Amino acid sequence: MSHAEENAGTRRDFLYYATAGAGAVATGAAVWPLINQMNPSADVQALASIFVDVSGVEQGTQLTVKWLGKPVFIRRRTPEEIEAARATALTDLPDPLAENANAQPGADASDQNRTLDEAGEWLVMMGVCTHLGCVPLGDGAGDFGGWFCPCHGSHYDTAGRIRRGPAPRNLPVPVAAFVDETTIKLG
Ligand code: FES
Repeated sequence: MSHAEENAGTRRDFLYYATAGAGAVATGAAVWPLINQMNPSADVQALASIFVDVSGVEQGTQLTVKWLGKPVFIRRRTPEEIEAARATALTDLPDPLAENANAQPGADASDQNRTLDEAGEWLVMMGVCTHLGCVPLGDGAGDFGGWFCPCHGSHYDTAGRIRRGPAPRNLPVPVAAFVDETTIKLG
């Protein structure tokens, strides 16, 4: 590759990331008013992580942020949602695994292994159906009070675990952690 081509590639990369960043901000302002802070850096490495201010997220609501081009659901669950998830027998779960990047490999799909905090108030998941990748509807949608994928009818429960329909796996939990009381770091 010539020097000129290398430079062209660099410019293309820069334009791509610059455009993606601008799009994320515009969409965020219009659709996701609760986002107070998203810090995608111009640096490619830093783009792998974002910080999300969740101080405005009320119980029983969900914040959706775009991360690495995909929606991430950040839900602050009600006590009823937590109870429903914790009362579910593991034998009722089609996917027995936590599918949680923060849990031990092979951890079971108990509610405790899915949530970000011990009390189970915060649930962070990729908003991508494990069947063919549609974005499931939230806010208690579906027969199990969690999320429902309208593309082919997959029902997820209040812990984002697949309960009925063609999706094979629970909604995956990405690498995530609280860095202070109101900020979640993704990645
Ligand atoms: S993509 Fe969700 S059910 Fe098919």
